[in-house]
Amino acid sequence: MTTAASFEVRPITATLGAEVSGVDLSDVDAATLEALNKAWLECKVLVLRDQHITREQHIAFGRLFGELEIHPFATGTLGDSGHEEIVQITSTPERLVAANTWHSDVTWREVPSMGSILRGVVIPQVGGDTCFADTAAAYDRLSDDWKARVDDKFAVHDFMRTFGRGVPAEKLDEMRSAYPPARHPVIRTHPETGARGIYTNRQFTSHVGGVDADESEEILRRLERAIMDPSVQCRIRWEVDTFVMWDNRAVQHYATDDYWPETRTVERVTVVGDRPY
Ligand code: SIN
Repeated sequence: MTTAASFEVRPITATLGAEVSGVDLSDVDAATLEALNKAWLECKVLVLRDQHITREQHIAFGRLFGELEIHPFATGTLGDSGHEEIVQITSTPERLVAANTWHSDVTWREVPSMGSILRGVVIPQVGGDTCFADTAAAYDRLSDDWKARVDDKFAVHDFMRTFGRGVPAEKLDEMRSAYPPARHPVIRTHPETGARGIYTNRQFTSHVGGVDADESEEILRRLERAIMDPSVQCRIRWEVDTFVMWDNRAVQHYATDDYWPETRTVERVTVVGDRPY
C-alpha cells in the first residue's frame, strides 16, 4: 500500500527528471496520485524502480491519468494476449529496433498523447538507456531572433515517415484517411503549466508550413539541435521492472541503440492527450 507520507522525489537535473520512491504502482491512493501528478508536471520524467506488477496493473495505473491509446501501427501491440493498450518494443540479435531519433510519442495524431508509461522488461547488461530533453528549456535557449522566427509557425506531422513502410498497400488509403497529416504549432503551450516548448521532431514532422523546403529544413535542423543540447537533457538507466513515465507535452526522448547483440524489451502504455495549441 502506498501512502503520500512515504512519497519521495529526488531530482535528476535542475529542470528535468526525478527518481521517485515510496510508491507501489499496484496500489495508489488518492493522495499519492495527487503527489505523482504534481511531481510529473514539475519534473516531466519520473523514474519508479522495482515495480513488480502485472500487465493488467500497468494498464490500470495508466488509466489513473486518462484514457489509453490503442496504437494502430505498432507491430508490438499485445492485442493477442488481451493487452491491446500495451505496445511492446523488442530488439533482438537478429533485428535491432530502437526509437533512436528525438521525438514525442504519436505527434502524427491530431490529438497526440499526453504521457507515456514505459516498463523495462528485458534490459541489457549495459546500454539501452533512454535520453530525455526538456522542450521548454530548449526553446528558452534559442536566440530572440530564432524565437520570433518560429513562434507563430505550424508544422505537419505524418505517420508515413515512420510507419508508412509497414502498412500493406491495400490498407494505405484507409489508414491515410483515418490518420491524415496533422498540423501542430512548432512551439506548443503546455496546457497545465503554460510553458512553451519545441514540438517538431525528425521522426514524424514532414515539414514546416508557410515556408519553402529549404527554410523548413533549416528550421527543423535548428530546433533539433536545440533538443540535442546535453544541458537540457537527462539520461535514464533501466533495470527490469523500472517504470519511466514522461510528459509528451514537455519532453522529447531518444532510445539509445548501443547494446546489440543483446536483447532489450520494453512495454509502454500511452495516455491520450489534447490538441496542441
Ligand atoms: C519509445 O519511444 O516510446 C520507446 C523508448 C525506449 O525504447 O526507451
